[in-house]
Amino acid sequence: MCGIVGYVGGQQAAPLLLEGLTRLEHRGYDSAGVAVLGPTGVKVAKRAGRVRQLSEELPKRFAGKLGIGHTRWATHGPANDVNAHPHVDASGEVAVVHNGIIDNAAALRHRLADQGVDLASDTDTEVLAHLVARSGADTLEGKVRDALSAIEGTYGVAVMHADFPDRIVVARNGSPLIIGVGDKEMHVASDLAALVRYTTTIAYLDDGEMATLTAGGFTTYRQDLTSTNKTATTLDIDPSSYDAGDHDSFMHKEMVEQPAAAERVLRGRLDERFGTAHLGGLNMDARETRAIRRVKILGCGSAYYVGQMGAALLEELARIPADAEAASEFRYRNPIIVSDTLYVAVSQSGETIDTLLAVQEIRRKGGRVIGLVNVVGSAIARECDGGIYLHAGPEVAVASTKALTNMFLGFALLALQLGRVRDLSIADGKRLIAGLQQLPGQLAEMLEREDELAAIATSLAEAESLFFVGRVRGFPVAREGAQKFKEISYRHAEAYQTSELKHGPLALISEAVPTVAIVPGDELTDRNVAALHEIAARRGPLVVVTHADVDLGDVEAVRIDVPRNERELDPILLTVPLQLLAYHAALRLGHDIDKPRNLAKSVTVE
Ligand code: G6P
Repeated sequence: MCGIVGYVGGQQAAPLLLEGLTRLEHRGYDSAGVAVLGPTGVKVAKRAGRVRQLSEELPKRFAGKLGIGHTRWATHGPANDVNAHPHVDASGEVAVVHNGIIDNAAALRHRLADQGVDLASDTDTEVLAHLVARSGADTLEGKVRDALSAIEGTYGVAVMHADFPDRIVVARNGSPLIIGVGDKEMHVASDLAALVRYTTTIAYLDDGEMATLTAGGFTTYRQDLTSTNKTATTLDIDPSSYDAGDHDSFMHKEMVEQPAAAERVLRGRLDERFGTAHLGGLNMDARETRAIRRVKILGCGSAYYVGQMGAALLEELARIPADAEAASEFRYRNPIIVSDTLYVAVSQSGETIDTLLAVQEIRRKGGRVIGLVNVVGSAIARECDGGIYLHAGPEVAVASTKALTNMFLGFALLALQLGRVRDLSIADGKRLIAGLQQLPGQLAEMLEREDELAAIATSLAEAESLFFVGRVRGFPVAREGAQKFKEISYRHAEAYQTSELKHGPLALISEAVPTVAIVPGDELTDRNVAALHEIAARRGPLVVVTHADVDLGDVEAVRIDVPRNERELDPILLTVPLQLLAYHAALRLGHDIDKPRNLAKSVTVE
């Protein structure tokens, strides 16, 4: 939820830190700050607002070839200048940036106050700066170790100290940190996005690990300061995939990338001869696969809604009872873990704390969990017994698009493989494979109709309140559509089962409340069209996402005809126009598409 950067080397640190923070802004953007260590000691500049404002107001004299920076999403204390990171100790010699939450911060604040320390901010992080300064150890590594041993909670942390001007000490427990190796310079960041412009030679820190960075290199060690001897590896990644390029936002770029991303997740995983999928990463043989009696899918936000689409795919294709639940609810209700249930954790970032803790709870109780995860090597990916990497490439916009599409396709592959060791016929397997192969092209076809969707979005953007309705397969599509619309347009968008309209929402339907209805051409079309009549009779404006051959009778509606695929795969094609509607409504309303208010890309704190 927050972002960390750090630099030590031969160049001025501040411009590099600010550039890195800009690339991490999707993680948190209510305040930002940097600290550098120059000839006159530690200098800090921080403020509420965006990184751009911080850059514009940076003091003229802000020299230093070592520094740390942070972009914040408030948890402890409001977003203001004082609560922004870095935090310093009373003497101003120690500066700290921190991601995560210190659970015993209140007790530590009291203890420090009793010892006469003046706490400047409301944050949990500030205690770390004081604890480092008050340690009696004679190395920075020892001081940071002492401070960390007093705290309970999660952290990715970077510390600099005026008495140790050649180094930054970092530590990880639950919040990612990545070291980037340059030429006589070292970087650190909480996300690859901030590093790739400078280096692709990197080392990931593990939980419980610390590292010291100097211009000449890095060393890694455990908290008892014994070495872990980690070495860096060079990644084969294209740094330009972290740029928005010609697009006005990352969301737009990521929507447009969907056909290519879809091809990547399918590549090498379809077996046309036997009408099945090959998912080597599941780490399950046919016998274990057959023994599965239920599937339970867990995710948050869009990952939860696509989990519902995935549950439908598993039930339809593999005939295994399946359901999805918000990981954030699941983990708080002392869930009953059953050995013949396959648990599936879905996450773009692989960092979402509720999903991660749900996975840990299941594994603690002996359950088997697989992950549908985009970020390779992320915490959730590492915690799972096996999984399917989504290969969507970096996703920066808060509103998930290409990762969500690939999650759906991941579920289709899983359902195909589970189905084919059960009752799905080879003919049906082949039918679905043909459908999957057609999908990237159909996604592209849908995206080419952006102008048509922009015009429809313009009318929807006027409404204060909207309904998104769908039935069975279409309901998770409606939920995801409403989620996208509300998170970036800030309009009230509520999803409902079409079948439940009469049980409440109809009371709200009027000329002022449009409904976006998901009406695929399937066995439920007639029921859905009947509901459209009920809405139209109350003068509710209608946008209907449907197929060209569906006859809506005399219902007055704006139609969006999506390409037809196999009916089980239709949900993802019905979802893409809803992304474009949300995007164009938000654009029309002048919102910051990639950084919606109050939201963050990865929710890594409870
Ligand atoms: C946040 C984001 C959502 C995302 C959800 C789950 O709420 O704003 O867009 O769907 O987290 O994220 P994950 O990385 O686990 O897929």
